[in-house]
Amino acid sequence: MSKKFYITTPLYYVNASPHIGHSYTNIAADTLARYMRKVLGQDNVWFLTGTDEHGQKIQRAADAQKLTPQEFSDKMVLQFKELWKELEISYDDFIRTTEDRHVTFVRRALEILKDKGEIYEDKYEGLYCTPCENFWLESQAPDKLCPDCRRQLEIISEKNFFLNLEKHQAWLMEHIKNNISFIQPQSRSNEVLRFLELNRLSPLCISRPKERLSWGIPLPFSSDHVTYVWFDALLNYTSAVGKFNDSGEYKSKWWPADLHLIGKDILRHHAIYWPIILHALGIEELPKSIFAHGWWMINQDKMSKSKGNVVNPIEMVHKFGVDVYRYFLLRDVPFGLDGNFSEEAIIKRFNGDLANDLGNLVYRTLTMVEKYYAGKVPELKIDEIRFDESGERIKNKIKNLHLVDVYRELSWNRDFSSALQKIWELINMANKYVEETKPWNLAKENKAEELKYFIRLLVDVIRVVADEVEAFMPHTAKLIKEQIGTDTIKKGAPLFPRIC
Ligand code: MSP
Repeated sequence: MSKKFYITTPLYYVNASPHIGHSYTNIAADTLARYMRKVLGQDNVWFLTGTDEHGQKIQRAADAQKLTPQEFSDKMVLQFKELWKELEISYDDFIRTTEDRHVTFVRRALEILKDKGEIYEDKYEGLYCTPCENFWLESQAPDKLCPDCRRQLEIISEKNFFLNLEKHQAWLMEHIKNNISFIQPQSRSNEVLRFLELNRLSPLCISRPKERLSWGIPLPFSSDHVTYVWFDALLNYTSAVGKFNDSGEYKSKWWPADLHLIGKDILRHHAIYWPIILHALGIEELPKSIFAHGWWMINQDKMSKSKGNVVNPIEMVHKFGVDVYRYFLLRDVPFGLDGNFSEEAIIKRFNGDLANDLGNLVYRTLTMVEKYYAGKVPELKIDEIRFDESGERIKNKIKNLHLVDVYRELSWNRDFSSALQKIWELINMANKYVEETKPWNLAKENKAEELKYFIRLLVDVIRVVADEVEAFMPHTAKLIKEQIGTDTIKKGAPLFPRIC
């Protein structure tokens, strides 16, 4: 395993307010970043997020509000920053594609590609989807409707600049085949490979004529063009953490990215265009892994403004609390698959996993420490005690939880839901142990030693659980630690009072 961990999220378009889909990627990235900071140390993790501010979508949204695109972006970016604060997203850097550091980098990258002969000028005539900002081949859209959004395509003819993707196709396919974790989950890797096997990549048009769209980074070698928004945006992963030196070599403390976390909708841009752009630039180290997660749907339907079914994450946080929201998203659906979002499903998780299981374990243990030991945790080392079978199983589980169970699920499988299940196995074992052991009987029967061991084991369970849930639910972990982190407990209100 590498000694550093550089993780990124997509840069979100600022044309509309953030919704639960955007929050999902950032919560997942935040959880991994927090977890890896524990494993590798604070200074060895870099977590980058930001906003994508150029292109037609933004220009149009700004026009509608009679603002310049820059004024509009300056206003919208605050909503994203506000949401990340509410959700306790611990990013190390936030990049906006309109910042100088990024614009300068993109222009330099374009010059390098031009000098290397990777970019050429050509006349283009073809089908174009204006809302998606994508060109399509006739073979891809025989009905002249956009394969993505199903809107009417326009025929466009213009002079533009192109990157030849096809000449890079063979090595990219080899790279995907030889590096099983390059594209995850495996099904997505197969999907990209199949696409590459069946299609010859057409050239990527990396410019837009200014007369059609002026809101973009000006091309350094043509005053009539700006840069295609996707070409500009992808480069953020490198512009935020490094620079080209005078001889055009890229230097960075953090590159290559260890993980680009994205939604499945933007897999091709990341798994095909991005590695080719890097390779063409002479940046030989490719991202170690690109993980495409699934989509949140509402009643099995896509969220969209026109359907009026867009869920506002801030509302959910105010209603249920930030940790409940984070927990729900990460636990309810295996990462990589689509999920159905509903308040009923959140309430179910809340009453079950959080109130009944975790909340109850903490509350009943604190009550016992208060009742039997006047609030002082019995001083003992559970390693030195021989428990009955259930107790020994719990002891073992405590030992393995961090660096075996959770580590395997997060670092290898990127499976948040399974990692949480592993933590909940311990919580459930402990709750079951309370019911089996009936501590109130131990107290009545004067089994003081046994009672002491038993309660000490529960306290150890809670402490390790608090440590493990910290990356997922930072606020809850803090509350548990405040209540039971030291040897004199401070019992508070139940962590998750049931919602009826
Ligand atoms: N700006 C581009 C990305 C450029 S990255 C160099 C973009 N932005 S976006 O705002 O439209 O969406 C970005 C990401 O938001 C998706 O890839 C995905 O991570 C997340 N989601 C958007 N809607 C979603 C759902 N309904 N469900 C889950 N995540 C989705 O594309």
